[in-house]
Amino acid sequence: MRYHSLGDVPAKRHAQTRRNGRLLTEEVLGYEGFSGNESILYHLHSPCRLSEVGEFRSIVRDEWVPDAHVHRLADANPVERGGDPVGGRRLLMFNNDIETWVCKPTEGHDGFYRNGEGDEVVYVHRGGGVLHTMFGRVPFREKDYVVIPRGTTHRFELHGDAEQFWLCFHTPGEIETPNRYRNRYGQLLEHAPYSQRDFHPPGELETVEEDGEYELTVRVRDGFQTYELDRHPFDVVGWDGYVYPYTFNAADFEPRAGRFHLPPPAHQTFQGPNFVICTFAPRMLDWDENAVPIPYHHSNIQSEEVMFYAEGDYAARKGVEIGCLTLHPSGLPHGPQPGTVEKALGAKSTNELAVMWDTFRPLRLTTLWQSVDNPAYAYSWNEEKAAMFEAEPVT
Ligand SMILES: [Fe+2]
Repeated sequence: MRYHSLGDVPAKRHAQTRRNGRLLTEEVLGYEGFSGNESILYHLHSPCRLSEVGEFRSIVRDEWVPDAHVHRLADANPVERGGDPVGGRRLLMFNNDIETWVCKPTEGHDGFYRNGEGDEVVYVHRGGGVLHTMFGRVPFREKDYVVIPRGTTHRFELHGDAEQFWLCFHTPGEIETPNRYRNRYGQLLEHAPYSQRDFHPPGELETVEEDGEYELTVRVRDGFQTYELDRHPFDVVGWDGYVYPYTFNAADFEPRAGRFHLPPPAHQTFQGPNFVICTFAPRMLDWDENAVPIPYHHSNIQSEEVMFYAEGDYAARKGVEIGCLTLHPSGLPHGPQPGTVEKALGAKSTNELAVMWDTFRPLRLTTLWQSVDNPAYAYSWNEEKAAMFEAEPVT
């Protein structure tokens, strides 16, 4: 991320700084001890102040261990709406590197939330609103990746009655843009599929000096700890640095294509430890007259591939609708389904939009996946059995 600043910051760090005669509280918020990226915030009051320590609730993961290891299809459309942007999250899959939760909130967040043990990315499939944070306001809309660094106290406000349908990723690691897109100073290179202009930091600081009762939930130690505060946590009058929440819209991803087919790293958007997140954006297809413009069969022998179908028509998959997910786990080759290659020959462009996350360690599923799993998908490469796949409703 680039350097950014909002509000008033003094000329020198760690020097006496006053507002209306009162000494401000300086907070350094940084990664890797004092060796990683950091921001410095100036608070009206100590950010440590509590009025009451609340309850701790451990995260319970309802794991589903399937009877068989196969390719899987699930439909997230029937997942029930409800809850707020944090309490309404339902875990779909996880490993020690990344968790994916489905969230379809119907109400804004009453209190405040902070992840104290991981970075988060919220992919907004449907909906929009404003993420209010101690760094300022971050408006978000459909197709946005909302990246929220750990330590960011925030609250989601939802826009109107719009349907909200999000994928929420949590990682104990850091969400970053891929190294190969950046020069040695961190600036994005000309060949990257996006530029700094496509990343939207908080635009406006919200400084609230207010006493009252505020609930703060902090994700720590694999659970949620609540606290009662008697001062509004958005009491920051200024900050600067490299750590802050931002949005990147999938429609701003500049897709790459080749004379012949390019593999998924061409679509990479973010990296984290042992996983990547990719955006398959609408694009021109491979232009050689002999090109096969959809993926070749592949065995990613060290990867699990999950694809969320967000928009358009994905040529390599049959029976997969918007809002569905496929999981192609390690140990099994996968590729286009029968008939789709012939059908795609000569195609000049695709209108598909998909979000993919590949993990380098096995993923575990939850009972939420089980409830929307389509077991017939495993047979969809068998032409004799494909009819059964097409007829089988998602249960
Ligand atoms: Fe794949």
